[in-house]
Amino acid sequence: MDLHVLDSSDDACFVCANILSDYLKTTPQAKLGLATGGTPEAVYRSIIDHKVDFSQVRTFNLDEYIGLPENHPQSYRAYMEKHLFSKVSIATENTYFPIGGGYDLRIKTVGGIDIQLLGLGSNGHIAFNEPGSSFNSKTRRVKLAPQTIQDNSRFFEPGELQPVEAFTMGLATIMQAKQILLLVTGQHKAEILKRVFDGPVSEDCPASILLNHSNVKVIADKAAAEYLTACV
Ligand code: GLP
Repeated sequence: MDLHVLDSSDDACFVCANILSDYLKTTPQAKLGLATGGTPEAVYRSIIDHKVDFSQVRTFNLDEYIGLPENHPQSYRAYMEKHLFSKVSIATENTYFPIGGGYDLRIKTVGGIDIQLLGLGSNGHIAFNEPGSSFNSKTRRVKLAPQTIQDNSRFFEPGELQPVEAFTMGLATIMQAKQILLLVTGQHKAEILKRVFDGPVSEDCPASILLNHSNVKVIADKAAAEYLTACV
């Protein structure tokens, strides 16, 4: 894995956005894999500033909650509309979420994902592939880990119903992306990022599968990279 450590989380997001925007400028028909969560919000803000043409781009989101209406503010479709889709020239029919089946085939049919943006869960999950997920997993319905439900409760109002299940791209699906950008920021991710880097490659830490991918850039701020002393 190719590690890039930046001073701040904004800088890390800016670097990520530059990579994605540069790719889109040379590849107008790009297929992008997109992530949600708090971490990539600044990436999307920066991509919008680049004023890239999205008219021929297709996007494939990593995951979607089960049990929320599509227009619920915490659905990942609503997140993407708010942070990116409503602000660029993308057609809704070119934006895909893993609901309703046939997701992996759809990705294959368009020639695969060119660049997959990933965040990192505090328990080592990527997308909603929780610890114990099979490395052979394809897109499917999953139960969320208690830690993930706890981490994501900050996005829901107190007392509001929070989903405990989701559809997620599988680990094998993610590994088929031609290039992967793993964006990790904040001191609270430092320990799990070290675990990912140090290995072992194990289903106990789903993100460790990325050690087996030949084209991964890890873009981290100093706080998240704190324990990667050999690399900083
Ligand atoms: C969420 C998402 C992931 C995301 C991760 C980290 O649950 N399913 O795709 O990368 O957890 O989220 P955050 O960036 O808010 O820390």
